[in-house]
Amino acid sequence: MEPILVKDTNKKSYEIHLKNGFEDITALLENIAPKASKIVIVTDENVKNASHLKDLKKALGRKLPVFEIAFEPGEHTKCLENVEKLYDFYMSNKISRKDIIIALGGGVIGDLTGFSAATYLRGVNFVQCPTTLLSMADSSIGGKTAVDYKGIKNNVGAFYMPSLVYINLDVLKTLPDRQFFAGFAEVMKAALLADQKFYFKLIEDMYEICEKENGVLSEMLFNAINIKKAIVEKDPYETTGLRMLLNLGHTIGHGIESVMGDEYFHGECVSLGTVAAAYISYKKDLISKDDYLEIRDMFVPFYLPISIDTDRESEIFEAVTYDKKNNGDSINMVLLKRIGSAFVEENVPHDLIKEAISELNFKEEG
Ligand SMILES: NC(=O)c1ccc[n+]([C@@H]2O[C@H](COP(=O)([O-])OP(=O)(O)OC[C@H]3O[C@@H](n4cnc5c(N)ncnc54)[C@H](O)[C@@H]3O)[C@@H](O)[C@H]2O)c1
Repeated sequence: MEPILVKDTNKKSYEIHLKNGFEDITALLENIAPKASKIVIVTDENVKNASHLKDLKKALGRKLPVFEIAFEPGEHTKCLENVEKLYDFYMSNKISRKDIIIALGGGVIGDLTGFSAATYLRGVNFVQCPTTLLSMADSSIGGKTAVDYKGIKNNVGAFYMPSLVYINLDVLKTLPDRQFFAGFAEVMKAALLADQKFYFKLIEDMYEICEKENGVLSEMLFNAINIKKAIVEKDPYETTGLRMLLNLGHTIGHGIESVMGDEYFHGECVSLGTVAAAYISYKKDLISKDDYLEIRDMFVPFYLPISIDTDRESEIFEAVTYDKKNNGDSINMVLLKRIGSAFVEENVPHDLIKEAISELNFKEEG
């Protein structure tokens, strides 16, 4: 498959390659960093234990020395302390600006490593090798890097474009199913906000996607990545508001995540938040009731939640409004004009948000 080229207004463009295996990576690294004399791979223990680190090192061969560091898996790894650990690791191995830093992992490793690469020596060549569906479809593209600080997610970060995104689909074979489908929620989100044809294709390919067939996954990622590419190229540094469209499902989803984050993965909250956004779109006469019900039910075959069964509705609403209240802002949400087209609605009435949360609160059968 042809690489996808993402143009960056300020700096160089970068390519996204979709492959089965790591075999082609060495030649691509030579293209982006011909003067590199060392390679660092940053990963996490799960990815390392699944033997993806070994496979990547094998593909890199012995041409350049490779230094590796593995962190504990989990969101807590995205912290400043680990950025310092990385700086120390780069210094002790005398990594220079010409060298290459590879993030081999999900969004946590990508965000942490990207931020360290952005700031160490004011920027070292950075390569994303995403290993979760979420990081392949979403977080490895667009140059957002960050760590969490004082309990606030992504509070310290930088825009720093990778020099290359290398996606090896084979690594998905070891990704736990629940993580895979949580990542799929971001793919569904992309289709709903930008591409009706792609949405229907996802439904058509449901069986093959659930079976993780490489050919279908490759085509699916190609479409999802192109949606993100089109948006980040037009709004690379989040200045025009266009990039906000990618937040479909994230307003109410984030409220649910704040209150019930122990129960649900991020992608699962996006699924719930997208159902809620579709409900509000229906109540505002933007989409039909049938479309709303179809969108809601289409998450189910992908093992994603569409209901929350909780007595914490008001806490979720408070969490949705928390930041906005502090800023005195109205609540803006991404809504659907129709399947495949989204826009930002300003000042969504609080009652409608409460109603959408209540609508999610039912017991699913079976
Ligand atoms: N930068 C962005 O634009 C952006 C966008 C969306 C999300 N994010 C960030 O991404 C993070 C979430 O990313 P994620 O969902 O990939 O989570 P993650 O990186 O925590 O990975 C999920 C789990 O899967 C394991 N894993 C990863 N790849 C594996 C594989 N191939 N086989 C077996 N296990 C594997 C990890 O060890 C981890 O336990 C959050 O911190 C979020 O803020 C960033």
